This record gives sequence, C-alpha cells and structure tokens, in this order.
Amino acid sequence: MALPAVSLRTLLLLGLWQTGRRSLASAPELLEQPKKIAVVGAGIGGTAAAFYLRQEFGPAVKIDVFEPGSVGGRLATVKIGDHEYETGGAVIHPLNLHMKHFVEKLGIPPRKDTPSKMAIFDGKELVYEESDWFIINVLRLLWRYGFNFLRMQMWVESILDKFMRIYQYQQFGYSFSSVERLLHAMGGDNFLTLVNQTLEETMIAQGFSQVFINDIVAPITRVNYGQSVRINGFVGAVSLAGADSGLWAVDGGNKRVCSGLLYHSKSELINARVTSISVKARPSKRGNTASFYEVNYVGESGAGHALYDIVVIATPLHQGKSDIAFPGFSPPLPSHYPGLYHQTVATLVQGRLNVSYLGSAEPASQFSVSDILTTDSKGCLIHSLSSLDPVHIPDGYRRPAASHSNVWKVFSPKPLTPEQLKSMFLSHHGVSQTPWLAYPAYRPPHRRTPPFILHNRLYYLNAVEWAASAMEMSAISARNVALLAHHRWHEQAGKIDQEDLHTRLRGEL
Ligand SMILES: Cc1cc2nc3c(=O)[nH]c(=O)nc-3n(C[C@H](O)[C@H](O)[C@H](O)COP(=O)(O)OP(=O)(O)OC[C@H]3O[C@@H](n4cnc5c(N)ncnc54)[C@H](O)[C@@H]3O)c2cc1C
Ligand SMILES: *[C@@H]1O[C@H](CO)[C@@H](O)[C@H](O)[C@H]1NC(C)=O
Ligand SMILES: *[C@@H]1O[C@H](CO)[C@@H](O)[C@H](O)[C@H]1NC(C)=O
Repeated sequence: MALPAVSLRTLLLLGLWQTGRRSLASAPELLEQPKKIAVVGAGIGGTAAAFYLRQEFGPAVKIDVFEPGSVGGRLATVKIGDHEYETGGAVIHPLNLHMKHFVEKLGIPPRKDTPSKMAIFDGKELVYEESDWFIINVLRLLWRYGFNFLRMQMWVESILDKFMRIYQYQQFGYSFSSVERLLHAMGGDNFLTLVNQTLEETMIAQGFSQVFINDIVAPITRVNYGQSVRINGFVGAVSLAGADSGLWAVDGGNKRVCSGLLYHSKSELINARVTSISVKARPSKRGNTASFYEVNYVGESGAGHALYDIVVIATPLHQGKSDIAFPGFSPPLPSHYPGLYHQTVATLVQGRLNVSYLGSAEPASQFSVSDILTTDSKGCLIHSLSSLDPVHIPDGYRRPAASHSNVWKVFSPKPLTPEQLKSMFLSHHGVSQTPWLAYPAYRPPHRRTPPFILHNRLYYLNAVEWAASAMEMSAISARNVALLAHHRWHEQAGKIDQEDLHTRLRGEL
C-alpha cells in the first residue's frame, strides 16, 4: 500500500553506523579468547550471528555454521520459466537498518522498484481498490474511516521511533539477556503490554474503530502473518509498518545476504544437521577443567561431533522440527514451549488470472491490481494473491497485464486443491508449492518467551520470534546474541541488561 514516506530518522541513524564507536570497547587483551564457536542454522539469523561474532571476537576464532538445507532458510527462491521468485521472506522496511547495512557492506544493490496497486477482496468481490491517484486514495479513506488511517500511521510511527533505539544501544555494545529485557529497553512497560495483548485489543484501546480494524488492519495481518488481528500488538505494529511505502528487496534474491554474510564472516559451512548438544569437561592447559559443548551432527558423509566454547542456535526449537536433543542438561525451555508455528503455504503459479473469481467485471486487459489482500471472512480461503516480479528485474521490464500469463503468488493456510487453482486461473502451468512453518502462531496473552541464554554459553537466537518474526528481528537478535556471548565470556556485566539506556545515551548522539 502506498502511504506517505516515513521520516528523517534513517539519515540520522545511518550516520551513526559509520562512527564505529564499538571498537573502542573491545575486549581486554589479557583474557583468553574462545577458540571455536558453532552456529546452528544458516538463515538470516545464523549468518548474521556469524558476521557479528566475527566482529566481536576477532579474526582468530574458528566459526562453524551448520546447515543441512540451503543457505537462506526461510529466505528462498524458486525458478519458474526463466526467472527466480521469492517464496519466503520477501520485503524489507526502509528503516530495517541491519539489513540495509548488510547489503551496503556486501555491495549488493536493492532490487529495482516496480509500481504496484492494492485491492481488498472479501471472498466475493473487491471491497476496496487503490486508485493511481494518491489524493483519491486519501479522500476515499477519509470518507470511509475518518482519521483512523492517519492515526494508524502516527501510532505505528511512534512505535517505530522507540524500536529504532535498539540500533543505538547495539552500536554502543549493549545487550540483553531476554526478549522481555530487550523490548523493555526499547519501549518500556508499554512494549511489554504490546506483546501481551492482541493487536485488536490494543487498537480498540487506542480508539480505532472496529470497522477500520476489520476492513484495513486484518487484511494486513493476514498477508504478513497469515493470522487475524488477534496476533500480539507488537508483531501487529511490525505488520502495519510493512504497509509503509519504500519497502525493498535484494536484487537477485534476499537469500544472497545470507551467503554474503557467511563468506564475509570467514566461517566454515558444514553441510549437516545438528542432532544433539551436550556439555563436556576437559582438562585445560592451566591444570583445571574447562567445559565445552559437544555438537553432534549428521551430514551426507555420516555422523560427526566437535567441541565448541560457544554455541548459538539460530533455528526455531519447535514442534520437533529442528530436533536437537540436550542430553545431560535441560535448557530452560518449558515443555509447553516453544509453542506452535503457523503454516503458510506459498503457491507460485504461472498463468492467466480469472478476474471474475475476484468478482471483478473489469476486462482482464484493464485489470491493473497487483496485490490483493483479503478480509477475515468465511468465504476467503486465501490470505493474499499478488502478481510477482522476478528477484532480478531486467531492463525494460513491465509487469504483464492480467489478460496475459503472469506469475502469481498465493498465500493460504492449506495447500490449494487443483479445483481451487482451476477456478482462480483460466489457465496455468508451472505451479510450485512451499508449505512453510512460517512464523509463530501468536496467541497472547503470553507465558514468558523463551530465553536467549539456554545454558552458560549456549544461546538461542530465535527466541525473538515470539515478539515478532521478520528478517530484521533475526538480525537484531543475532547482534544481541553476539554481544551477549562476548560480554559474558569476558565478564563485562556492565554491558548487559542496563536500565534507562535511553536516558543515559541521550547526550551521546
Ligand atoms: C512465507 C513467508 C513470508 C515472509 N515474509 C517476510 C517479509 O516479507 N519480511 C520479513 O522481514 N520477514 C518475512 N518472513 C519472516 C522471515 O522470513 C523470517 O523471520 C526469517 O527469515 C527467519 O530467519 P532465521 O534465520 O531466524 O530462521 P530460518 O530462516 O528458519 O533459518 C533456520 C535454519 O536452520 C536450519 N536448521 C534447522 N534445524 C537444524 C539443525 N538441527 N541443524 C542445523 N541447521 C538446522 C534450517 O534448515 C534453516 O536454514 C516471512 C516468512 C515466510 C515463511
Ligand atoms: C472464473 O470465476 C468465476 C467466479 O468464481 C467462475 O464462475 C468461473 O467458472 C471461473 N472460470 C473458470 C474458467 O474457471
Ligand atoms: C500477560 O498477561 C497475563 C494475563 O493477562 C498476565 O498474567 C501476565 O503476567 C502478563 N505478562 C507480562 C509479561 O506482562
């Protein structure tokens, strides 16, 4: 949805990147550095962790990244015809500064922009269709929803303002031992309440109308998280920020960032699945015993194991999907946790859209809507339907009209049946279906989120997804975990869980 652009904060905060103040606070030389670190998973979380661990611990430490599948994890592409298309994590917010920093550092350009147009489908017809004219959109929304729309932007912006504080804290080397502490440092009790309430409750309390929530907010949470407005208020705000203008993607595919970070971090990729992690004591040089983590894994060339000083788990530990056992100790992951992940099926179809399926009487040649969101109504078996551009936009590219064959992406909670595909498309070929366990099923109020620290020097990056799942959240968590691992190794308690950072750092800009 094209909404007016955000603010100048980008420029301000980008300036902050270059100052490199962190290097002043590097570890005292006398302390022994860790020799080997393992990262489990090579999605954006794991590869960003490798990048930041290298930054924190220097060139000497050996970093191994375990990954049985392809580098990128939930950032993935499929080939349809001659081009590649994103099937997983697709868009990045302009204020996602870590992602921005990564592409700049790696020298990867953003993907070229193509114009888009949004509509909302209620299972029978299009109940809202964006106009090409900005002013008409504004007037229509004002007419229907009064100032709800403007207020929503202001509300999201005020949350984003607080969210942006994390970049300053991290720049100064501060880290947090739990998701709650991290959220609290950004937005105080207010943020803790946000994760513990539904988006709907939060917005009603803020004075938004139920009609607005149903008509506009629900379609946005459905397209971004496959869920209703009963997701938590924090991930809800992240979702609404995802309706800002200026969203971008990485030229050639978002997963390129992962392989780039891996390469840049000079870590070794081990093509294997980690099966268990246990604690082992070994005599050390100085005569006392030191403890290590033994990581057991299975790869194509069989099983293996190796000892590490520090381990970062960068994959969700849920539904037995990652299947990592912890023999001999029990990390503080209550048995009822970490809860369920929500299934979103991404179906990519090359074909001609049946515009009558959307209740549109327009001839297909005139139909120029590219992104169709849906309301939370019984008749809707899909969450969204969008015309998809390839990950690399060739020169002179123009998205084909709906009367021509085009690549479409459908998000749905269940796989689409051949009959359903047949009614949505007049003709189709090249269907690719990816059933993602995509993001947590958010059901506030919450029990506590899982901790970042599972054991002494064993860290869990994906705990952050219970606040909100997004590429940038994994990147923020990666930097937090790298800092945390560093400060705990060197016993720098003053850089962990500090209160009132916002006030204390105010003068430092
Ligand atoms: C359909 C969809 C759309 C999305 N849209 C967006 C979007 O537009 N914008 C956005 O910001 N985010 C989006 N997201 C969310 C985003 O993709 C994720 O939050 C992010 O990619 C998570 O990265 P991660 O590295 O933390 O986890 P993952 O990408 O899941 O990486 C974990 C890796 O660990 C590996 N692994 C698992 N078990 C083991 C084991 N035992 N040993 C070793 N390795 C193991 C896995 O193979 C995987 O590669 C979307 C997600 C989906 C599914
Ligand atoms: C197109 O959609 C309409 C409305 O759902 C349906 O009646 C029609 O059969 C569909 N066309 C095809 C070719 O399936
Ligand atoms: C979340 O809400 C529940 C019930 O409303 C409450 O018991 C719990 O303490 C709250 N948790 C946090 C972290 O605020």
